[in-house]
Amino acid sequence: MSAYSIRTEVKHPSAASAVDWENLTFGRTFSDHMFVVDFDGQNWVDPRVVPYGPMSFDPAMSAIHYGQSIFEGLKAYKGADGKVRVFRPEMNARRLNHSATRMCMATLPEPLFLEGLYKLLALDSDWVYPAEGYSLYIRPFMFATEAYLGIKPSDTYRFMILTSPVKAYYQGAIRVKVERHYTRAASGGTGSAKAAGNYAASLYPAKLAQEQGFRQLIWTDAASHEYLEESGTMNLFFMKNGVLHTPTTESDTILSGVTRDSILCLAKSWGVPVETRRIKVTELQEGLRDGSVTELFGAGTAATIAQIESIRIDEEDFTPPPVEERQFSNKVAKTLSGIKTGVLEDSFGWVQTIE
Ligand SMILES: Cc1ncc(COP(=O)(O)O)c(C=O)c1O
Repeated sequence: MSAYSIRTEVKHPSAASAVDWENLTFGRTFSDHMFVVDFDGQNWVDPRVVPYGPMSFDPAMSAIHYGQSIFEGLKAYKGADGKVRVFRPEMNARRLNHSATRMCMATLPEPLFLEGLYKLLALDSDWVYPAEGYSLYIRPFMFATEAYLGIKPSDTYRFMILTSPVKAYYQGAIRVKVERHYTRAASGGTGSAKAAGNYAASLYPAKLAQEQGFRQLIWTDAASHEYLEESGTMNLFFMKNGVLHTPTTESDTILSGVTRDSILCLAKSWGVPVETRRIKVTELQEGLRDGSVTELFGAGTAATIAQIESIRIDEEDFTPPPVEERQFSNKVAKTLSGIKTGVLEDSFGWVQTIE
């Protein structure tokens, strides 16, 4: 039974039949509807699913001026059985509230996040394309709406969910570079929040890296640049001497990824030893040099597993073993894809099926 009364304004006709599914570019096509709910200073009011479209705002809206803006990212999939499944959405609802707390914003009841999402997905189920590699990217986000130029936490907020049909994010393995100068997040800062400003600050260093032919940066810690952190949109993993390594998210500088958590759960269930701790760049570097690092990959919702084919550390390029030899990460990619599409048993209870 629904705890919230979510009003719905249906768009007619749906634009889904006009989509060029072969030529989708990530994040440029939007489904028919969006979920919207407002915080009036006291309560979340008027939850609604309405046709996707422009909105008007006061130019003094504080999100624009002082950056109280956070977001999430997850995906829905349609399996061979035609059912729409969404992967661990409660983790995103919880992480949104972690971000909201750090950014001094209103928190959102997690059931409201989930009910709004399920209602939106039920209405836009035709936007989840039932072919391999396709999914519906889901973008929940919240921003400050108070029209006031003084610096203070906004009294009012809007939470919304957009969805966008997508194909696989990265085609093939990627080249990355370890960043030793610029910083994504400092201890005591906002790195563990999915705050819009974190992404704004990473654009310039990422652009410099892209001009040098790298797809992504691997960030290092702000204080010494000696410890591995994560990538722009992914957590980092490597297999060394049969032990799966990933930097700890116990500090407040790394985003705690849902994919990362899922990989750690799978590894433990398969008896693969895992180390989550602070990891020096030199540990990875030495392992790449002596061959003890056998797999290297990024993990996140967009790509699930993005295999790293080459990594530049200082001035040296390293090439881990070929992707087809990487048993663990290939098995993870296949398993997660199977669970998300209903082909494999969901023994962890990760998937929510939309009725
Ligand atoms: C900075 C950063 N790290 C890691 C991730 C991976 O998180 P998830 O697996 O929840 O998508 C993301 C993507 O949301 C990200 O933006």
